[in-house]
Formats: sequence, structure tokens, C-alpha cells
Amino acid sequence: MKPVKITDGVYSLRLNHFNRRLFDSLIPLPDGTSYNAYLVRGSEKTALIDPGEPEKAEVIFDYLKDEKKIDYVVSQHAEQDHSGNIPLVLARYPEAKVVTNPKCKELLMTHLHIPADKFIEVKDGETLSLGGKTLEFVYLPWVHWPETMGTYLREDKCLFSCDFLGSHIASNALFSEEHRSYEPMKRYYAEIMMPFRSNIKTHLERLSKYEISFIAPSHGQVHNNSKFVMDMYRDWVLSEPRSKVLVAYISMHGSTLLMVNRLVSRLQEAGICVEKLNLEHFDEGRVAMALVDAATIVIGTPTVLTGPHPKTVYAAYLANLLRPKAKFVSVIGSFGWGGRAVETIAGLIPNIKAEVLKPVIVKGMPTEADLKQVDELAALIVEKHGGLALCA
Ligand code: FEO
Repeated sequence: MKPVKITDGVYSLRLNHFNRRLFDSLIPLPDGTSYNAYLVRGSEKTALIDPGEPEKAEVIFDYLKDEKKIDYVVSQHAEQDHSGNIPLVLARYPEAKVVTNPKCKELLMTHLHIPADKFIEVKDGETLSLGGKTLEFVYLPWVHWPETMGTYLREDKCLFSCDFLGSHIASNALFSEEHRSYEPMKRYYAEIMMPFRSNIKTHLERLSKYEISFIAPSHGQVHNNSKFVMDMYRDWVLSEPRSKVLVAYISMHGSTLLMVNRLVSRLQEAGICVEKLNLEHFDEGRVAMALVDAATIVIGTPTVLTGPHPKTVYAAYLANLLRPKAKFVSVIGSFGWGGRAVETIAGLIPNIKAEVLKPVIVKGMPTEADLKQVDELAALIVEKHGGLALCA
């Protein structure tokens, strides 16, 4: 493999994993993923940024086969998909030092047993000159771990953004394309960064002061249109939710589905955007993406024994972890002889600071009178959405 030039002296060493289908044993990867290392060659020193996941160690060393000397390994994040190859790189380049912040150093020593004397600690805003290439370290804590930082290469206006602004996509194309990258980026943001929205807001404000020609994240493609990326993030992080309802449901014998379909029809007739997700084949990423901009979440569930269907419990638990900016929630569904579907779902979502709209839970197959209650819920949602922007 040959390093791919981004600009003079700056190279992408992308470790593609086209066949990976799950991250953290949780997150579906419909487009695979990549672990991105970068090489910056100055006139005096060479830095390798985030050498990546050990499963792909042979690829990084193939890229580095002609690289005689590495002076610095910049570690922006201790999670192993970024840092796991550092011990192997240090074994091959024993003179190299690991450049990172104190928190990341601590985690690298704990997770990878890298000795303390191998590190150079850098402060937020500190710079390191490679000779005509100046690396400025920008702390970006809590894009999902506490120690994450980015690196801004001043001369080339290149931001190595670590997990931030990335996407799970394997590709041999160096640069992203807007029409292709929107969904993977939204999926990635929703799954990983949405719970840390207030931190992301701070990072966006801070980075707005930098002129950025290239965004080089640790996953997915390099972006040479930073405005497109930053505008997307600003929308997801800062904007009010859209006039959109996520209806996430399970139906076992069709009763809940009748209610779901009635609700979806009434909302659609009123011009509300609806995302109807059958949770039978659960895609955590699709649920997460739908949560980014939905103003209302409606869980549709039948009753299993004495409670809601377990897959709707999982959806509610996941939504609670992801802390979406929804303003309204409700539950619809049916039961056979009893149960506590509403109480159980409500108890699972304390992090979602939303108004609960009157649930509609009916016995058996819904009657027309029951469906009128669904109509009333739809009308209430329409009223509550007044003033919200339409779906993008
Ligand atoms: Fe790409 Fe936080 O790992």
C-alpha cells in the first residue's frame, strides 16, 4: 500500500475494513468502516497520527514499509481502534515518542501498557514544529471519551479531527462526496455524539475560529468541503427538532399495527413528516438517525405477559441513552388481559426531557372508538408541532 497524498507532506494511510458489520458489538456498519492514520512529513521531523486498529496492523506497516524514521506518534484518542497499533509502531520505531495529553497518556498506559518515558505531554493549544509543518493540539473532550483531542496543521489548514466529524464508511476514494456522505455521517453522529450535544456545541464554536481546508477524521473519508460538514453538524446539534414524528413499533397479531397505521395516516394527512420503523428487525443506527431531528417519539407496543414487548423496551432504553432533543413522547398499543406498558416505557426514558402526550392503550383489536382516540393523539401532535420547521 502507498500513502495517499492529501496535500504536500500530508498523507492518508487508511485502513479499510469493508466487511466489518458491527462496532462495539452494538453499532451496525452497513458501509463497513475505516481506521485512518495520517502521516505528516516536515523538513526535520515526521509525525504519524493515530496508527489505528491492531486487526489491520499489517496494512499500516505495508504503508510504512519505506518510512525509515518516525519521530512522533500523535495519539488523539486512547480507544483501541485509534491507538491499538501504537505498541507495534514503537517496537518498529523505538526512537519515536508518543505525543498526547495527560488524560490520554493515563489511558494509554492503562489500556496498552505503554511506559511513561515514551510520552511527550502537550497542553491544549500547544504546538509542535516538524519543520515547516506546525501541529497545534486542540482538546475536544467528550465527543464520547474524556481525553479526545484534534490536531490542526496550520500551514495546510488541515484539521485531524479524530472521531469528531467522521463516519463509518470503508472506501478507497480519498475525499467524501456530499450526496454519499450525508447518511453515514448522520448515522455516526447519532450513534456516538448525540448524547454529548452540549460538548459538541462548544467544539463547533471553538473550531469556527479556524480556517479549515481539509477535515481528516479517524473514520471514513477526508472532507475537502468543511462548510458542508460544519453546517450539517450545526443543524443536528443546534437547531430545534423538525416537525417529524418517529413511530417505532412492534405488532404481534396486528392490533398495534392498526393503531400505528391510523396514526401515521392522520399525521401524514396533516402534513407532518413521519418515520415509521418496525422494530422487528432492529437497526440501532436507523433508530438513532431518526431521533436526531424528530420532535415527537411514539412507541407502539403490544403487551407480552405483563409488560411492553422487549424490543420496544430496548428501543426506549437506547433512546434514553442517546438523549435526543424530542419535545413530546407517547405510547400506543394493545393488551390482552392487563399489563403496564406505559409505566414501564415511561420509567425507561428519564433523560428525555419531553412532555408526555396522553397514551392510547386498548384491549384487544382496536374498535373505531379506540381509533378515534388515536385520531385525537394525532391532532394533539399536529397542534404541538405548530411553528416547527418542516422535515429537511
Ligand atoms: Fe473511533 Fe472512539 O473510537
